[in-house]
Amino acid sequence: MTDNDTQLPLLRVVNLGRSFDVSEPFLQRLVTNASRKIVKAVDGVSFSIEPGTTFSLVGESGCGKSTVARLVAGLEKPTSGSIAIRKPGGERVRLQMVFQDPIGSLNPRWKIGRSIAEPLRQKLPQSARRARIGELLATVGLSPGDADKYPHEFSGGQRQRISIARALAADAELLLLDEPTSALDVSVQAQVLNLLKDLQQRLGLTYLFISHNLSVVRFLSDRIGVMYLGRMVEEGPSEDILDHPQHPYTRLLLETVPDLEAPKRDRAPLGGDIPSPLNPPPGCAFNPRCPLAMDLCRQKRPELKPSAAGANVACHAVAG
Ligand SMILES: Nc1ncnc2c1ncn2[C@@H]1O[C@H](COP(=O)(O)OP(=O)(O)OP(=O)(O)O)[C@@H](O)[C@H]1O
Ligand code: SF4
Ligand SMILES: [Mg+2]
Repeated sequence: MTDNDTQLPLLRVVNLGRSFDVSEPFLQRLVTNASRKIVKAVDGVSFSIEPGTTFSLVGESGCGKSTVARLVAGLEKPTSGSIAIRKPGGERVRLQMVFQDPIGSLNPRWKIGRSIAEPLRQKLPQSARRARIGELLATVGLSPGDADKYPHEFSGGQRQRISIARALAADAELLLLDEPTSALDVSVQAQVLNLLKDLQQRLGLTYLFISHNLSVVRFLSDRIGVMYLGRMVEEGPSEDILDHPQHPYTRLLLETVPDLEAPKRDRAPLGGDIPSPLNPPPGCAFNPRCPLAMDLCRQKRPELKPSAAGANVACHAVAG
């Protein structure tokens, strides 16, 4: 392995696109004279993740975050673009998704030891499996005796620990974490985020972390990508994005981020309605909500490019 090899990203996504045909059935369209409707859920998104680091995708509901994760996981096929996931030696990378609501992915009739053991079946004889399950439960802060309980006997935060244990049982190296803490109370959220950070440091895991909340990603992210209606509008090192946001949309998101220390404090709501990805405005899709919008913004779509301040930004008003 040369020094150069170690710098290759574990995941490289280039110009990724995914459209969905959400038209009414053909006969109905014939009767109502409706045209075809195509949603561009993900539209030309590019980013890379270095091994052992966290890349966070943020943006409002419907901007395409989960679709990106599903494409990376191979659960959807891209309409355009490419996804390369590889280790320096070229071997396959084991990846696992962790969802917001782990109860949906745990069989309610199975003791959780059995759910965690699933990925171990091929690898370990039954005698060794029990010990490994206990070890994994301890790794995520639960007790080995918890293996004999059912999912409903755990709190939301504990269930999320169980789904992380299951990902570790599968020897996952890349975790696709889709809003893993959004359903949890703030204090429990912080505990799960701490666990994720600790596991990353100990095991060298790589994370694609998805959240609509910028204050949640601050703790974990090395880089952040901000999405708006299927497109990346700002991408860069997390300090740049959080402390010196360039794109008007990132600034708006930061102004409305609930404060983790004082979550009840009133903040201004995000102005304007989110336009539909079915029918995005021409030019910059953010223009109807943007305080800086000018004529050019309604005519020409800004491309993501390096800004003078460092991060990559797609905005006509930001100096390159
Ligand atoms: N299978 C599908 N068929 C049709 N439309 C879809 C499908 N999957 C996603 N979409 C649409 O693509 C867009 C992006 O959806 P996606 O779930 O990726 O957003 P998201 O950023 O994860 O939102 P949320 O924060 O609500 O989870 C939405 O407009 C959604 O309705
Ligand atoms: S391109 Fe124009 S409308 Fe879009 S964010 Fe920049 S200033 Fe606002
Ligand atoms: Mg989602």
